[in-house]
Amino acid sequence: MRAVVMDRFGGPDVLRVQEVPDPVPGPGQVLVAVEYAGITFVETQVRAGRGPAAGQRPALPRIPGNGVGGRIVAVGPQADPALVGITVVTTTGGEGGYAELAVARAQDVIPVPAGVALREAVALLADGRTAVLLHRRAEVRAGEWVLVEAAGGGVGSLLVQLAAGSGAKVIGAARGAGKRDLIASLGAVAFADYSLPGWEREVAELAGGGVDLVFDGVGGQVGAQGMLAVRPGGRASVYGMASGSWTDPPGHVRVIPSGGVPGPAEIRAAAEEALALAAAGRLRPIIGQTYPLAEAARAHRAIEERTTTGKTLLIP
Ligand SMILES: NC(=O)c1ccc[n+]([C@@H]2O[C@H](COP(=O)([O-])OP(=O)(O)OC[C@H]3O[C@@H](n4cnc5c(N)ncnc54)[C@H](OP(=O)(O)O)[C@@H]3O)[C@@H](O)[C@H]2O)c1
Repeated sequence: MRAVVMDRFGGPDVLRVQEVPDPVPGPGQVLVAVEYAGITFVETQVRAGRGPAAGQRPALPRIPGNGVGGRIVAVGPQADPALVGITVVTTTGGEGGYAELAVARAQDVIPVPAGVALREAVALLADGRTAVLLHRRAEVRAGEWVLVEAAGGGVGSLLVQLAAGSGAKVIGAARGAGKRDLIASLGAVAFADYSLPGWEREVAELAGGGVDLVFDGVGGQVGAQGMLAVRPGGRASVYGMASGSWTDPPGHVRVIPSGGVPGPAEIRAAAEEALALAAAGRLRPIIGQTYPLAEAARAHRAIEERTTTGKTLLIP
């Protein structure tokens, strides 16, 4: 099969398509003919050798990619043969997704619900479960002011919708005015461009003295400024560092505990909830761009250069 292999850490060009042996599903595993593979922001950081968590320099060579969708074409020993032929989305357990064929644990596969296209389900798999868990832990209430950073990105675009769906007044923030219309279409009542000086003061003013809650997946300068837009006693959900450094929340803000790494059952339930919300028309994944598998390097470069919106998918 063809797969994207990286044999060293570095810039996007370390991602090269190669002919490699087909993977063979082991005990309790299935083999998926991949139609779409998701790319998450963290995969660009891991590829560069600077993942946000300690020890995120996995063994090489490796095929990146943690989320795929497609038809199950074979099963290994002790996996239910009736799974063959079903179209599913699934985690790959951390790697192996950027490929024509991927193995996954049978217990991880999720059938795509009626009314949701496979590409949408793949777009929702990682970002949807993350957004559902963050939204739930933040206990968003109707009428609250909520600031979402990177609101035109994968997780951010879903957080805007979920918070707005809870009745919050959402201010979606991004770099540059180009994402304004997209963010408004997600249900945000206002837009903030964090490339402009003083944006955080404008956000605080709009919210009548500060927002009640900020979702910070950016960190760095944007994250620090976003904290200044929070009212005294307001809350912060700090979940990412797209800028390269985590936010150190100031004392006037209550940090929502991350709750630790969710277990497999909680992760699966959150992904299923995101898919159910999509099937009910209450959550819309934004697939901003797709690339052929052979152009994985170009896709990573676009994400790093901040020219993407929503989710980026690879098509083998
Ligand atoms: N996807 C998941 O399931 C998941 C799980 C846990 C944590 N996270 C974290 O959540 C954050 C968002 O993840 P995502 O996959 O949804 O990515 P994403 O939002 O699709 O892409 C990253 C966003 O961050 C913004 N950004 C700000 N500074 C940046 C910089 N220096 N370089 C690149 N982008 C920058 C960009 O928007 P602007 O250009 O508009 O600022 C871009 O939209 C990441 O920090 C990630 O590690 C994601």
